[in-house]
Amino acid sequence: VKWHRAHTTWFFEVFVLERAGLPRVRPEWDFLFNSYYETLGPRHPRPLRGLLSRPSAASVDAYRAAVDDAVLRLLLTGPDKDVEAISANLEVGLHHEQQHQELILSDVLHAFFLHPHKPCYRDCAGEQNVSPGHRPSPAPLEWVDFSGGLCEIGARPGPEFRFDNEEPRHRVWLEPFALSSRAVTVDEWLAFFRDGGYRTPSLWLSQGYEWAQAQGISAPGNSLVEGDALWVFSHDGLRRASGHEPVAFLSYYEAAAVAAYLEARLPTEQEWEHAAEGAPVEGNFLDSGALRPLVANGGALPRGLYGDGWEWTQSAYLPYPGYRAAPGALGEYNGKFMINQMVLRGGSAWTPQSHIRSTYRNFWPADTRFQLTTVRLARSLERTTHVAGR
Ligand SMILES: [Fe+2]
Repeated sequence: VKWHRAHTTWFFEVFVLERAGLPRVRPEWDFLFNSYYETLGPRHPRPLRGLLSRPSAASVDAYRAAVDDAVLRLLLTGPDKDVEAISANLEVGLHHEQQHQELILSDVLHAFFLHPHKPCYRDCAGEQNVSPGHRPSPAPLEWVDFSGGLCEIGARPGPEFRFDNEEPRHRVWLEPFALSSRAVTVDEWLAFFRDGGYRTPSLWLSQGYEWAQAQGISAPGNSLVEGDALWVFSHDGLRRASGHEPVAFLSYYEAAAVAAYLEARLPTEQEWEHAAEGAPVEGNFLDSGALRPLVANGGALPRGLYGDGWEWTQSAYLPYPGYRAAPGALGEYNGKFMINQMVLRGGSAWTPQSHIRSTYRNFWPADTRFQLTTVRLARSLERTTHVAGR
């Protein structure tokens, strides 16, 4: 948590204050809190970040206060031309900080999950006292058809904030497809598990099966199987999952295998965006306070595209046609990671609602399990079939 706080502060110091020609606050901390910007010099190795016992949390507090103060003074009393020059980076810094706030929640949960006592981040009572009979049931899984055709995806030109990886808007051709009306549930995952899904190579990508065998994977991340029940660790502690809630913390490999078991596949990011565009950005986000996926009921189909969990897509994280990384060090923000990662869409119960839009592209390696991920299913439809949907 301390590293995330210091790093997001460093981001404002380097990309806002220094750009405006203001004196540096803590140049000697560049080595500690530069994350991955080669342009800005060498840095502390990422796997060792958690071992930085100094500077203290109190020094990071003071650092943050000093940087906040300088940024505010610049905005309130700085020359117009300086404010103009830093406004774009300031906005990136705010969205960057939202990303790290989500990472704090994922890191805290994972660290507490690895602790033998499984400590709670907040109220331990959680939902353990809610009897299964009082938990809502999900609507049955339905398929929502889309006729596809020539579509556009990507951020439209305009003043609204977007990361460079969402641009430029471009045309894509979509064959007819269907999306599941909701995310895959714990009950559906349990069926996969009981049927020996983790030991059935025909359901898996080769790399995924090797990974699952080598790592001894047989349950989602941050979760345990006891008897015939799945226990999920959330910020409220360890609790027996309802069969009706979305299954979370699956890697891409597992998500693809579960989709195959359910005679489906994962959506492409183009299909996902086409389905989500125009729908209100509403759902179970950080703002709800639940901090975990909930049973999706009510509202237009498909449900829960936004919020609950980041939905794996089967799209490799690649530049859009005509993509250009921003000039300078900020060009390292997204573009250089466009290899060996898969795109996830829609935000999660740890993401602020104001952070998400239909064009937003998250990306993680296929074996990632500490992010709050869920599984949306897709199917390809016959071209000759009459498609009544959008
Ligand atoms: Fe960062």
